[in-house]
Amino acid sequence: MGTLSYIKNFLKDRQVASITPTSRFTIERVCRHIDFDRDLRIIEFGPADGVFTKVFLEKLTPGSGIIAIETNGDFARSLRNYEDERLSVVNQSAEDVREIAAARNWDRVDYIISGIPFSFLNKEIKHKILQESADLLGEQGLFLGYQTSSHLKSHLQEYFPKVETEMEYLNIPPMCVYRAGK
Ligand SMILES: C[S@@+](CC[C@H](N)C(=O)[O-])C[C@H]1O[C@@H](n2cnc3c(N)ncnc32)[C@H](O)[C@@H]1O
Repeated sequence: MGTLSYIKNFLKDRQVASITPTSRFTIERVCRHIDFDRDLRIIEFGPADGVFTKVFLEKLTPGSGIIAIETNGDFARSLRNYEDERLSVVNQSAEDVREIAAARNWDRVDYIISGIPFSFLNKEIKHKILQESADLLGEQGLFLGYQTSSHLKSHLQEYFPKVETEMEYLNIPPMCVYRAGK
């Protein structure tokens, strides 16, 4: 897995939106905002083959859980190879996040980590995903997104009073990391 699988899947499925995995520098930058010392419920949007998921599983406590929501069937299948009981892989769209969380009796989550290409989504779907994410995160949770463009900020501000961005230049292309909360 890695760059080759991204290129293969990108050629078949443009929603993959990238031909190379996110760099470890961006992953570390996102992880800095996560408190791994306590049991957490994390939802990951667009994990692909698990470049973030693998790091989360290494850092999370035994009592934590991740729901990884991925539309691409090849990536979802490869993620199921992780065989970690804390990880639940769902081959669906992030637009179904409320229903996916409810099916696992998760009414609150601590973090939503998102790598999906928001700029490719239509307005209605983008806003459904952000509304349902804000509802699931409640007062304490954080939405951590990473995108190659900075366009997501204004959309996040409609649902989260606090939105901050930072750039990671050790990524091809440079990545904008978003942190949104209440
Ligand atoms: C830019 S890649 C990021 C992959 C990986 N997390 C990384 O950091 O390298 C975006 C991923 O989001 C997935 N994706 C796109 N739209 C999605 C959606 N609506 N719901 C869930 N996953 C989606 C794509 O299939 C792809 O795996």
